[in-house]
Amino acid sequence: MKCRKCGGRAVLELRRHNTAFCGPDFVDFFRHHVLETVRRWRMFTRDEAILVAVSGGKDSLALWDVLHEAGYATTGLYIDLGIFEYSHASKARCEAFAGERGLPLRVVSVSDEVGAPIPAVRDATRRPTCSACGLSKRYIMNRAALEGGFSVVATGHNLDDEAATLFGSTLRWDESALARQTPVLAATHAKLARRVKPLFRMSERETAAYAFIRGIDYIVEECPFARGATSITHKEVLNRLEDVSPGSKAMFLQGFLDKARGLFQEREAVRLLECVRCGQTTTGEVCAFCKLRDQVKRAVRPGAGAAATELPDAPDPAAARGLISDLFAASEIHAP
Ligand code: AMP
Ligand code: FES
Ligand code: ZN
Repeated sequence: MKCRKCGGRAVLELRRHNTAFCGPDFVDFFRHHVLETVRRWRMFTRDEAILVAVSGGKDSLALWDVLHEAGYATTGLYIDLGIFEYSHASKARCEAFAGERGLPLRVVSVSDEVGAPIPAVRDATRRPTCSACGLSKRYIMNRAALEGGFSVVATGHNLDDEAATLFGSTLRWDESALARQTPVLAATHAKLARRVKPLFRMSERETAAYAFIRGIDYIVEECPFARGATSITHKEVLNRLEDVSPGSKAMFLQGFLDKARGLFQEREAVRLLECVRCGQTTTGEVCAFCKLRDQVKRAVRPGAGAAATELPDAPDPAAARGLISDLFAASEIHAP
């Protein structure tokens, strides 16, 4: 197989684009698409300081790399969830990435903000782990942006994430989730930062390939609490569709954004108030984050912490490394 651009040996075939690239030309292709997405969706300008939320995974570090290489003023934000070894390892990846490039990285700990690490939050509330975690992450991202003077937060959500979320919301016909599904969530209140997803058109496989070719050291393991999550099943279903019909995921998501989202958005205009406790936005009197913090405070005894809590299952390194080994097995990617 030959690279579409230079005619040299291709290392990656992109079936949905009916093309193939060598390493350097794929890097150019990837960057071009991401920056074009930023421009077309008016995500941010060159004058804005961007807070990039980094988890230590391939997507958010690939995003930070693209934006930094393109000359944007970026600062990283790592939220330490306190999930045992997973959090230690992911924080180390973010610190190494920032350190090697001389980039600023802010670290905020969920333990400090909520009163306990995520495993203890899970035990203290009846909420599904990912829901308490997602709520905490969104709140912390927004507050860190406001306090740090950033008008925009960029996350590494990719095409697979977005298509799977859309699929789940559609199965439930969750109208408010459908109204919020967008690569650019505008700041509709003075206390909200804009939230953008510049990788929403890039597949998980493409971001993995970019991170690999660029030699980015990222954490391959998924969060241990994500195992068995419905979103993973939705991703598998969409992967099967993509296999038989390349381009399905992009068509599903883009079609929704072009043709359907506006209909849901019109009906979802909510009036935002300021939380009487913390001042962040809410639709009621006290925001969901303050309620979560109260619940945790009531349940967690002083001194009790993550040590008392157990991991769901031992991580399965073979499955976790699946994506990269698949890429190797298919001989699609060779050493950088
Ligand atoms: P996830 O919710 O794990 O699928 O992650 C989606 C995006 O949220 C990532 O690409 C990051 O941009 C951001 N994110 C997830 N976890 C963290 C974290 N611990 N700290 C900062 N940002 C995060
Ligand atoms: Fe939040 Fe796993 S990353 S529960
Ligand atoms: Zn609050």
